[in-house]
Amino acid sequence: MLRVFAAIRFIGIRGLGRTVLYALQKSRIERRFRRAAPAGDPVSPGALQEVEAQPGGARCRFERMELDLQFLAPDLLRVTWGPAALPIPYALLKTEWSSPPVRLARSEQGWELTSDALHVEVGPAGDLRVRDAAGRLLREELPPQRSGDEFVHRARLRSGEHLYGLGNRTRFLNLRGRAYEMWNRDPGAGTHPGNDPIYLCIPVYLGVHAEGSYLMFYENPHRATFRFGDPAEAIFSGGALRYYLIAGPPPRALERYSELTGRPGLPPRWALGYHQSRWSYASDREVRDVVEGFQTRGLPLSAIHLDIDYMDRFRVFTVDRRRFPGLAGLVRELEERGVALVTILDPGVKHDRGYAVYESGDEENLFCTLPDGRPVRAPVWPGWCAFPDFTNPRTRAWWGEQYRPLLEAGVAGVWHDMNEPATFAGWGDPTLPQPARHSMEGRGGDHREAHNLYGLLMNRAGYEALRRQRPQHRPFVLTRSGWAGIQRYAWNWTGDVEGSWRGLRQTVATVLGLGLSGVPYTGPDIGGFSGSPSGELYVRWFQLAAFLPFFRTHSAKGTPRREPWSFGQRTLAIVREFLNLRYRLLPYLYTLAWEASTTGHPLVRPLYWLQDQDQELWDVQDAFLLGNALLVAPVLQPGAHSRDVRLPAGTWYEFHDDTMHRGPGRVVLEAPLERIPLLVRGGTVLPLEETLAGSREKRLVLHLYADEEGGGLLYSDAGEGYGPGRLDRFRLRRDGESLIFTWGHEGGYPFPYRDVTFCVHGMVVRRALVGGAEVSGEGNCFPARHPADARFDP
Ligand code: GLC
Repeated sequence: MLRVFAAIRFIGIRGLGRTVLYALQKSRIERRFRRAAPAGDPVSPGALQEVEAQPGGARCRFERMELDLQFLAPDLLRVTWGPAALPIPYALLKTEWSSPPVRLARSEQGWELTSDALHVEVGPAGDLRVRDAAGRLLREELPPQRSGDEFVHRARLRSGEHLYGLGNRTRFLNLRGRAYEMWNRDPGAGTHPGNDPIYLCIPVYLGVHAEGSYLMFYENPHRATFRFGDPAEAIFSGGALRYYLIAGPPPRALERYSELTGRPGLPPRWALGYHQSRWSYASDREVRDVVEGFQTRGLPLSAIHLDIDYMDRFRVFTVDRRRFPGLAGLVRELEERGVALVTILDPGVKHDRGYAVYESGDEENLFCTLPDGRPVRAPVWPGWCAFPDFTNPRTRAWWGEQYRPLLEAGVAGVWHDMNEPATFAGWGDPTLPQPARHSMEGRGGDHREAHNLYGLLMNRAGYEALRRQRPQHRPFVLTRSGWAGIQRYAWNWTGDVEGSWRGLRQTVATVLGLGLSGVPYTGPDIGGFSGSPSGELYVRWFQLAAFLPFFRTHSAKGTPRREPWSFGQRTLAIVREFLNLRYRLLPYLYTLAWEASTTGHPLVRPLYWLQDQDQELWDVQDAFLLGNALLVAPVLQPGAHSRDVRLPAGTWYEFHDDTMHRGPGRVVLEAPLERIPLLVRGGTVLPLEETLAGSREKRLVLHLYADEEGGGLLYSDAGEGYGPGRLDRFRLRRDGESLIFTWGHEGGYPFPYRDVTFCVHGMVVRRALVGGAEVSGEGNCFPARHPADARFDP
């Protein structure tokens, strides 16, 4: 009910009537088409009767169930309990694996299956023990149970074990001790810390404990409950119990998981810059004014987003010609100013005769229907809508064709919203009725199975359209909802987070959790979606977001203006610094993007990423690593001017003045409003891009942070398209008191900078040799030559 009242502001009284009507209709439909739940007592596998070896695995027959164990790689085990209908592999990128060698043998109690990396013991009643190659127990599973359509899967966790992931969660980084739902949901009146579930649920988690770590992915899109008590339970309301278990430290596990479910392609480079948005910039004039506002103040801007008011009465794929008379002209003008235009698209198609998108979808039967063949209708922004059935390949192709006019007008990227799918239901579950039918690639299914896949497949349709229609451009798709594999198609933003200090605080845990769920690109609405943040809250949020992959200010209808200059001069000055820092960091960020495309590693990583056995780091959710080189400790409390920072082992330099600290341990660092603690790992070669005074040309500055050894990478290419790239590899080591720098490279793209400088941190340089010749510099900075090695003597 709360939701109904919260919505009046946005949808008016008539809209309110629809929410009530839809909630009533939906419960009537759900009653009418209720499926008789198959009854029965819980069934367990019973006794193990027979085991049969097969390439890369084994098939185990129990009295009442079958267990299929299949190694896809030595450290990747697929487990399937049947009989049950297998999932359509929507989540998977790679479905063909060559079986690694495994050994099957009888053990005292049951059977053992061993690969080069894992050892699985199958107990006589269907319990499984998984050990790593050194014999350390990673995970202990109890026999599954089945009641009707439901599968219950339990595991005994190790003491002190921490769990991370499950997609977009709103409170804690470590998920242990609580319950979570798998059912994508728009909470309607915005998200508050602790709301669960919200927009993007992914049944994947990472377990970290003193004996090692592993990743679990359940390939089952049905509604599920995960209860991380003792034992941990995953309860699926339907579908097969099929899961993938990957052993190894977090970076290795994420690499495998993303080999299985895919990695994001390189984004267009502009996407890593700053985005400005608002619900809504509602005319081309307003858009021009905002862009002008950035340019007259000398603030960099990469993209501006159009929210729903650019459409003609919220009809998807239309443009309001009164307010945006010439979209193509506007795009061109923005392009000349280096600003990309992104437009929102919602899946609901207004039920309206005479509206071409609706008519064609209806004519070709591309919308979801009820079991009696009537169309599913539910209210969203435009009023009563039909919902494309993205599990139908014909729907995906048709939907993709609708992008053509926008892409022809030059729109640079698309923003997919409301794709849980969300509807305006006055109460109850705000989505489609459960009995709604879906094609499921022609085999048929209902919304219980398709719901969590809806966003994933809308993004797939959009992504494939962009690839097809603009083959020389990299797609930029932003989404609110999705499922496992979403990273192949889209970036994510964290939805309608409340604009409060606690809303800010939840951001770090949410972004880290998404990264550990395989979603490397995400970020919050800076300042929060709702409410009116103070200048201080806006600054602190901005300072945090400057180090997150997706960097955008956005806010709800009716909120006070949220452009960087809306909070006065002092705020503007600070925001400018952080905007500039973000753009200086682009070579580093772009290199991390390249890494994400080749390893699946998130850009934002928990502090324990490289030291997963340092238990002090397991609960840190107020700081993070950006790549491996930077440690970011945002300020999350009002009025704070300093903060406590936990350091992983190693040498850490404060970015702003090179003060050196040694971890592991804690330090208290200054954090006046102008600054947040930012530390650079010793041994780092940090590439920053500086604009030369009075020119548009960029200079590369390689910052060398002294330590025993280290290095860094720099990936460069045209920033768009699919041409060649290049990778510069830097190494750093000490030779006595001196620092030795070596430079290697590969790839066909020419080195993009004419001017390169070295700046050395952590030692006073008295003599610098570049390519064998002594050079003089300013302070600790020296002219460099690409790709010359260098030596710095104290
Ligand atoms: C949803 C989105 C929000 C958007 C609004 C209007 O609430 O999460 O970002 O501004 O819809 O389209």
